[in-house]
Amino acid sequence: MSTPTLATHKIMIADRISAISESSTMKVAADADRLRRSGVDVVDFGAGEPDFPTPDNIKAAGIRAIEQNFTKYTPAGGTAELKEAVVARHAAEFGTSYSTSECFISVGGKHVIFNLTQALINPGDEVIIPTPYWVTYKDVVSYAGGKCVFVETEEKNGFAVSVAAIEKQVTDRTKMVFVNSPSNPSGTVLPRGEFETILRLCVERGIFLLTDECYSHFLYDGSPFSIASLPDVKNTVLVAGTVSKTYSMTGWRIGYGLVPAAIAGAVLKLQSHSTSNPTSIAQKAAVEALRGPQDSVPLMLAEYRKRRDFVIPRLTAMPGVTCTTPAGAFYAYPNIGAYLGKSGMASSLQFAERLLAEAHVAVVPGEAFGTGEHIRISYATSMKELERGLDRIEKFIRSL
Ligand SMILES: Cc1ncc(COP(=O)(O)O)c(C=O)c1O
Repeated sequence: MSTPTLATHKIMIADRISAISESSTMKVAADADRLRRSGVDVVDFGAGEPDFPTPDNIKAAGIRAIEQNFTKYTPAGGTAELKEAVVARHAAEFGTSYSTSECFISVGGKHVIFNLTQALINPGDEVIIPTPYWVTYKDVVSYAGGKCVFVETEEKNGFAVSVAAIEKQVTDRTKMVFVNSPSNPSGTVLPRGEFETILRLCVERGIFLLTDECYSHFLYDGSPFSIASLPDVKNTVLVAGTVSKTYSMTGWRIGYGLVPAAIAGAVLKLQSHSTSNPTSIAQKAAVEALRGPQDSVPLMLAEYRKRRDFVIPRLTAMPGVTCTTPAGAFYAYPNIGAYLGKSGMASSLQFAERLLAEAHVAVVPGEAFGTGEHIRISYATSMKELERGLDRIEKFIRSL
């Protein structure tokens, strides 16, 4: 048998990688960037990240960490100082009572969710995911060998998932239910009563409830709430949190999990052989974010509210476009279904591609989130950009 040479060696990617796809939000960012670098003036509504700088006190803590040589390995699951800061802030804001043994620190909220699914999902386990969903959920579940069970929601009910719809999908193999409130991409905030009923169902049936609290501070009405604050739910609720959006720290890559100690231990094992610790200096900055002044959060929220109140009426005034009003997060999720099947566009993906190519506005197609008739517009960008981009979208739509 001849030995394969570099020229004859066939590149076979592992099956578990073939089971997942590239994050579509990242693909949109790359497409928009390519166009921009070729000299085109692109308005970018694709990026799901705050346009505000990281607050100065947090930046200073990162700089101080470098100057004080806090630049070496830390414990793989995060420093005790940061875990203490996480549990203390969660306790202060939501009335929870986690100990540091129930907390782990990962490289962003996405990594927390990845680690939790890898630590808990066995091949064939079912995971219930309400649609529209954040892109990453289905891929991390598939990567673990799990089966995604999608639960439809209705646009006329503001995309809020009902316990009845979830219950219909529960089987003996159901291991986990994902809830993301406020939601990316729809901005939906699950009514508290419904959330609690979903939790009760999970407790009764021995199913984990993974609550993605990424946008918990960006709520336009009422105060932030954590389902983990209910009594006797620690064995059911898995909190996935992050400092990325709350403190405008997307690039620092710090997220946290609040989970039973045995699960934190399982994640630690995985993390100790993959990333090891999250970046030391970013951990110091996150401590400052959680312990320092919190005034940047309401300031950002006020700005998002102003933008939402500008964006939604502009969208709904466009012919054929409908849009639910987001109650949280910073995304609008308009329905552009009236234009599908027209002008050669069969899907929201094609709509988004043409919008980028012809009107130079980057949005994420609804297919990425499990619904075919929508596009996601991030309004975490300046009023000037919103005005320019919405003018372009309107002109594009009127041309169809
Ligand atoms: C719903 C949701 N969860 C989690 C994350 C993860 O955030 P990060 O990994 O940047 O902390 C994001 C980021 O876009 C998100 O939208």
